Amino acid sequence: MADWDTLYKACNTCGRCGLAKTRTNVVIGDGNKSADIMLIGEGPGYNEDQQGIPFVGNAGHLLDKMLSAIGLTREDVYIANIVKCRPPNNRDPEKSEREACIPYLRYQLQLVRPKIIVLLGRVAAQAIISPDFKITQQRGQWFEKKGIYFIATYHPSALLRDEDKKRPAWEDFKHIKLKYESLKKGV
Ligand code: URA
Repeated sequence: MADWDTLYKACNTCGRCGLAKTRTNVVIGDGNKSADIMLIGEGPGYNEDQQGIPFVGNAGHLLDKMLSAIGLTREDVYIANIVKCRPPNNRDPEKSEREACIPYLRYQLQLVRPKIIVLLGRVAAQAIISPDFKITQQRGQWFEKKGIYFIATYHPSALLRDEDKKRPAWEDFKHIKLKYESLKKGV
């Protein structure tokens, strides 16, 4: 039987990888613990590490705006990351770090039981959908596994670096909203 206390205690005392040595806070998750939509990013950055909350920096503000544009707030979704501790200098999390951390995310998935999982960026999509996932080619496509719908879109940080990615990401968010509505109605 999974429970939140067990998850929080295990994460907050975790030393399974080297990121434990440099973290300020473990960033476990935020939002509605029984949400139908779960968003998964790559790993905490500077602001997230300082506050212990995912997506609170510039990328997080953009994510909040995109959610708002489809009529959702953080209270409607649950947000987590592939790794729960900040990789120094915001480098990609290493394979060993992802592997050490992913059991916590799986446990979290059992607790939240979302109907839709949105992977934000290449690192999350490769960790959850397939190691050879190509974000530019395969974003916006639905994958279904054990009754859960998965979709990958660009990471909000990528949208801040490249304006051209905003339109396709917006299309993805509109599809996410449609899927969310259809699942709510049981269509
Ligand atoms: N980028 C991520 O992938 N996750 C965060 O929590 C913040 C920025």
